[in-house]
Amino acid sequence: MGTQEKLQAWARIIEAAGGPRPRVALTLGTGLGGVSRMLEGCVQAPYAALPGYPASTVASHTGRFCLGRMSGLPVILQEGRCHLYEGYSPEEVTLGVRLMAALGAEFFIVTNAAGALNPLFSPGEVMLIADQINFTGLSPLPGQTPICFTDMSAPYDAALAALTRRAALDIGLGLREGVFLGLRGPQMESRAETRMFRAWGADAVGMSTVLEVIAARRLGLRVLGLSALSNKNLPDSMEEISLEEVIRVSGLAAQDISRLLPEVLRRL
Ligand code: HPA
Repeated sequence: MGTQEKLQAWARIIEAAGGPRPRVALTLGTGLGGVSRMLEGCVQAPYAALPGYPASTVASHTGRFCLGRMSGLPVILQEGRCHLYEGYSPEEVTLGVRLMAALGAEFFIVTNAAGALNPLFSPGEVMLIADQINFTGLSPLPGQTPICFTDMSAPYDAALAALTRRAALDIGLGLREGVFLGLRGPQMESRAETRMFRAWGADAVGMSTVLEVIAARRLGLRVLGLSALSNKNLPDSMEEISLEEVIRVSGLAAQDISRLLPEVLRRL
């Protein structure tokens, strides 16, 4: 079965589970699982119910889609994603966003845990992603003709960013803003790499998101990105980072993202 047929088959399984036709697709990153509890009337579709759907091998990632409502809007939420560093292909890591688009989503809200490269940013803070650098060296778009020269001059939607800034202000949440750089991983960055990424203009670094955003833009989705900053990544004072610490600290920022999301959706 080709990818399009698989997407259609999975979409039919999820539709059969009931739940509203989603307008908003939301991908939850490390430490953000609690957001799924905020969906009203949540209908679940575990990845295991979707034949051939790639499951994350990372223990901190649950594998399921949930359909429900947030602030009255129909939402599909992806809890747990697979990554390049697990050995999955660019096509596989973008199946989630493509499936959510196939189900009807117009907006894609992507969240992740990221290391802060900007020395003014602190662990536990939330960063609105203004732009991205795809440093995976890969693309999720097919290489065969006709070639997809997808525009990436403004991958993150300016109007969505503006309403997110207003929403954050209204709930008294200090929001950082910056450029996210996506890596393949799973190795962390060396000091020299960190210095280079910062010199390139990156404010945060992580191992997800950039390919999903390219796939989303290819499909015409309007994208909002939020990073939960889990650690500081400074070349001259680098510390070893454990996954447990990433989960714990991104969980703090996740609480703020959980407060922010309903306010953002109310304004869509
Ligand atoms: N580097 C890469 N990925 C990450 C980091 C980091 O410092 N923190 C969380 N994900």
